[in-house]
Amino acid sequence: MAFTGTGKVWMNGTLVEWADAKIHIASHVIHYGSGVFEGARCYDTTKGSACFRLDAHMRRLIDSAKIYRMAPAYTQAQLQDAVLDTIRANQMKSCYIRPIVYRGYAALGVNPFPCPIDSAILLWEWGTYLGPEAIEKGVDVTVSSWTRMAPDTFPSLAKTSANYANAQLIKMEAILNGYAEGIALDSQGFVSEGSGQNIFVVRDGILMTPPMSASILPGITRDSVITLAQDLGYRVKEEMIPREMLYIADELFFAGTAVEITPVRSVDKIVVGSGGRGPITEALQKAFFGIVTGEVPDTHGWMTFVY
Ligand SMILES: Cc1ncc(COP(=O)(O)O)c(C=O)c1O
Repeated sequence: MAFTGTGKVWMNGTLVEWADAKIHIASHVIHYGSGVFEGARCYDTTKGSACFRLDAHMRRLIDSAKIYRMAPAYTQAQLQDAVLDTIRANQMKSCYIRPIVYRGYAALGVNPFPCPIDSAILLWEWGTYLGPEAIEKGVDVTVSSWTRMAPDTFPSLAKTSANYANAQLIKMEAILNGYAEGIALDSQGFVSEGSGQNIFVVRDGILMTPPMSASILPGITRDSVITLAQDLGYRVKEEMIPREMLYIADELFFAGTAVEITPVRSVDKIVVGSGGRGPITEALQKAFFGIVTGEVPDTHGWMTFVY
C-alpha cells in the first residue's frame, strides 16, 4: 500500500517527521542487509485499537538481533512501549507496525562490528495483502523454482533483511508468471513456506504445517493458528511435507501477519479441494478474525490495547 508520506517515525528514541526519517547512504544495512525487523498489526477492535501479539513479535525481534550478534540499545519492553507510544503519537486506529534494528553509519566493510546498532519504528496503513477478495475466494499460487536458504547458510529463525533477497526472487517469479504467490521448497525438496507467509495443509480433517527444520520463519500467525485449531478440536502435525501433498490437499491456506489467513485455491494450476475456501479454513478465519476484531473473547491474552 502506498505511503501517505505523513506522520511520525520513532528513531532511536525520538519521534521525527516522516519526511525527516532518513539514514546515510553509507549505512551498513543498505550495503550488507544487516537489519532485523518485524511486521505486526494493530487492529481497530470493537473495544478500541489493539496490537496482535506484540510481545511475541518483539521477542522475535530480540531473538533475530541476538542471532546476528546485535545488541539493541532498548529492551523488549522498551520497544513494545515505543510501538504503543508511536501509534498514539500518530493517532492511528489500525496500522501495520514495522520495527527495525539495523547496523548504521560508521564504516563500510563486511565486518559489521564498527557500526552502531540503530532502531526505528514505522507505521502505515495496510489492508488485505493479496487483495480484498483473497480472504474469501483464495489465491492461485505456484511452487517456486527458487529454494529457501539451506540450514547453516542464512538462519531462517532470524527475520533479517538479508533473507528477503530470497523472498523477493520467489515473489517476483510468481507475479511474472501470473500467480499471487510462490511456495518455496527447502534444500531437501520438502515444502517450506511462501515468500512472506507460512503454509498449512488440511487432509482428512488433520492440519499439517512444515516444522522449524524446513527453513521456515516461525510465524506468530502460524503459532496462533495451531493454538486456535487445537481449541477447535483439530489435530495439528508439524512435519516435513512432500511437494505433491500440496496438490492432493483438501484445503490449503497461508498464515502470516500480512496475509492473515488466506485460502489457496490452486497450486501450479491444480485445483485444491473444491477450488475455494474449505470449511476448516473458514472456521479458523472465524476464530482468528473474531479475536482481532474484538467480537469474540481474547481468551489467550493476545491483544494489547493502545489507548
Ligand atoms: C518468510 C516469512 N514467513 C512467515 C511469515 C509469517 O510470520 P508472522 O505470522 O509472524 O507474520 C512471514 C511474515 O513476517 C515471513 O516473512
